[in-house]
Amino acid sequence: MSGRLGTRPEQAPPAVIERLVSLACLAPSVHNTQPWRWRYDAGALELCADLTRRLPAEDPRGRNLTISCGAALHHLQFAARALGWETSVAPLPAGGPDTLLARVAVFRTVRHGVARGDIDLLRSRCTDRRRFTAWPVPADRLDDLCDRAGPWGVHAEPVTTDAARFRLELLANRALSFLEVEGRRLLEQDRWIDRDGPDGIPLELLPDAPEPLHARSRFRTGVLEDTRLVIHSGDRVIALGGARDDVGSWLRTGEALSDLWLEATRAGMSVIPMSQPIEVESTRHEIARTVLTSRFEPHVLVRVGWQAIGRRDLPRTPRRPLHDVFLR
Ligand SMILES: Cc1cc2nc3c(=O)[nH]c(=O)nc-3n(C[C@H](O)[C@H](O)[C@H](O)COP(=O)(O)O)c2cc1C
Repeated sequence: MSGRLGTRPEQAPPAVIERLVSLACLAPSVHNTQPWRWRYDAGALELCADLTRRLPAEDPRGRNLTISCGAALHHLQFAARALGWETSVAPLPAGGPDTLLARVAVFRTVRHGVARGDIDLLRSRCTDRRRFTAWPVPADRLDDLCDRAGPWGVHAEPVTTDAARFRLELLANRALSFLEVEGRRLLEQDRWIDRDGPDGIPLELLPDAPEPLHARSRFRTGVLEDTRLVIHSGDRVIALGGARDDVGSWLRTGEALSDLWLEATRAGMSVIPMSQPIEVESTRHEIARTVLTSRFEPHVLVRVGWQAIGRRDLPRTPRRPLHDVFLR
């Protein structure tokens, strides 16, 4: 983190750090649990996993929790750049608590302009579960999104052939059937819906599944009309993952997911994560073995498509107040 010859890096003042953390917290998180804690001390910003917000039934190893934190970490880096600051990230640094995921230095060596459009992008990204238009995302666009994962050390593979998509749909349905009989998981999901507080998912954002399809929906029935519950033939799917299935890999996948999602939003595409087939170990293995063509551990799947033009804006999911997540 050395500055240019003769210049000392200027450290970001506390007010900038506070702004960056609040923008980072706009990141997506599983069930909108926002499972992160930030700490700023002696010029260093630390990101920790908040294990009190883990989902013991659905996410016992903390994969989705860590991906969510990785997305927040990328949001922070993206926000810093947009406001003219540079960042240097040390993932999983030694010498901290087990929950410490990253230490970040925020500084600048030269003044950059502010990219307001990028800040707006952070604010406009969301999970819109309404049905995509029938026009599929072209293969080259999908490849461009996948290419964004490489610099984060993450594999991203589009699931493009009919055979692979059909197989994935089958496995997604199998995972749902498996989850339906697990009362523990259903209760856990239910706890994160319509909480009337600063976290969880409002009912207005969840599918209004017709009666026979209730059980096919991941969540309790919401009121959002015109949604698809599993994969539709026009949907495009990307699998993200890494060489390993561990905390360091999940963190990077979270960063790549956020990068891909923001870029998709910029281009007018909609992204919806689909984590159930990954949460069930047997279907996760089957996906790795029979759907993906390259060898890697899948961490999360996302559906990518276009929302119809002119749709009403959806309400935003709430966020926890800064003092809940940021210790100074
Ligand atoms: C790791 C991860 C897994 C997710 N899994 C699902 C999922 O299986 N189904 C779904 O509808 N949304 C899923 N989401 C989206 C979250 O529910 C969403 O990000 C959260 O409610 C916050 O809303 P926002 O994205 O609109 O800000 C997931 C998000 C993350 C980061």
